[in-house]
Amino acid sequence: MKKIAVVGTGYVGLVTGVGLSHIGHEVTCLDVDHEKIDLLQKGRSPIYEVSLEPMIQENQKQKRLSFTSKYEDIQESEIILIAVGTPQQTDGSANLTYIYEAAEAIAQTINQGVTVVVKSTVPVGTCQDVKNYIQAKTPFPIQMVSNPEFLREGNALKDLFEGDRIVIGSDDRKAIQTVMEMYAPFDIPMMTTDLASAEMIKYASNAFLATKISFINEISSICEKVGANVEAVAKGMGMDRRIGSSFLQAGIGYGGSCFPKDTKALVQMAGNVEHQFDLLESVIHVNNKQQNKIVDQMKERCGSLVGKRITILGLAFKPGTDDLREAASLVILDRLLREGAFITAYDPVAMPRAKEKFPAVTFASNVKEALAGADLAAIVTEWDEFKELPLPLYDELMNEPILFDGRNCYSLDEVREQDIEYYSVGRPAIGYRKSAPLTHKA
Ligand code: UDX
Repeated sequence: MKKIAVVGTGYVGLVTGVGLSHIGHEVTCLDVDHEKIDLLQKGRSPIYEVSLEPMIQENQKQKRLSFTSKYEDIQESEIILIAVGTPQQTDGSANLTYIYEAAEAIAQTINQGVTVVVKSTVPVGTCQDVKNYIQAKTPFPIQMVSNPEFLREGNALKDLFEGDRIVIGSDDRKAIQTVMEMYAPFDIPMMTTDLASAEMIKYASNAFLATKISFINEISSICEKVGANVEAVAKGMGMDRRIGSSFLQAGIGYGGSCFPKDTKALVQMAGNVEHQFDLLESVIHVNNKQQNKIVDQMKERCGSLVGKRITILGLAFKPGTDDLREAASLVILDRLLREGAFITAYDPVAMPRAKEKFPAVTFASNVKEALAGADLAAIVTEWDEFKELPLPLYDELMNEPILFDGRNCYSLDEVREQDIEYYSVGRPAIGYRKSAPLTHKA
């Protein structure tokens, strides 16, 4: 077993560090955010991720996992993983400040040769630059490995322990061997390559998944106009193994901390080498349009939204997380407020973060309270709680049961049995209530 340090305790760093300790390595996770480290030292997780906290506590108890904000505490580490954030800059490129802060601290701290493993998503060429940067500042030999992470929020531990592949990129065979040994207990297929290709695999993989989503969303818009059903189309497409059924779920666009950021960074990276990435620019454009779809549908149905009482069900960028980054809900709430609507929102876990951003929005403590007296309602995140909501409840609680389902949570068959007006994505609208001029119940 190895002595490993992980710098950065965001999604990637924390989940990876905890997972590596769980397979038997001695892991020290480091973060400059003292508050986070205080929380983690108490066995608490700063991120909402299923089964992560008990795994933290178990490995702390086994003395395989510890947390610090002091670099001297990781001096003895054979392997140092860099998993700090690479946030997006205004021009779309990746901000590498935290990467170089970590590199500087590592160069000043180590007292032996070390294998540095970059897990953060970084533009092609960064790992080589970081290696040169550290090596110029220390007499101890540095081996550099690019090891991109593919875990999904809300599914992180499962993806770590049951991932499709582990990508290990380096120009140093010994370093590749060291990292393969580190991951061996996971028993996941490993692909080894050079530094630059490993860095590109990350961007290309996320960009391709985003492309699949924008493609099916474009198809969904055509389906609405030609009377086809996008779910049937996606099913028929996905039965072709060359296409595959995953990531063909039409909806109101992708969000999160990765796809929006990585697609823009890849367009930027391509531009830096005079390649106009037309396809990916369209993917981003389509996604921006899709995030506006629900408000466009509401305006098409009602005209002005001034004074309308609108309920938003779901704020997180997807179920299973409290993360709002680049979520469709941010676009929808912002636009509806500018349209003069009164908004009530509900989300099982993401409301604390949304309250800071939207003081003008009313946050309900449960779905029923959120729907009571609403003129229009929209499903923005496909939490199970919403998928299992009995349809008659919309008629019972709302002023008029007019529902815009941005995640196709209900089957059209079950909707047709109800007396509600229903709009979704890439499927025929149901039950237009001519009799429903939008006036408030007394
Ligand atoms: C993604 C990648 O899946 C993961 O491999 C990478 O490491 C990080 O980025 P994540 O952002 O956590 O993971 O979420 P993911 O489950 O991929 O969903 C991203 C967005 O796409 C969500 O907003 C989701 O609602 C949307 N989506 C996903 C669709 O609209 N349709 C789909 O079929 C799948």
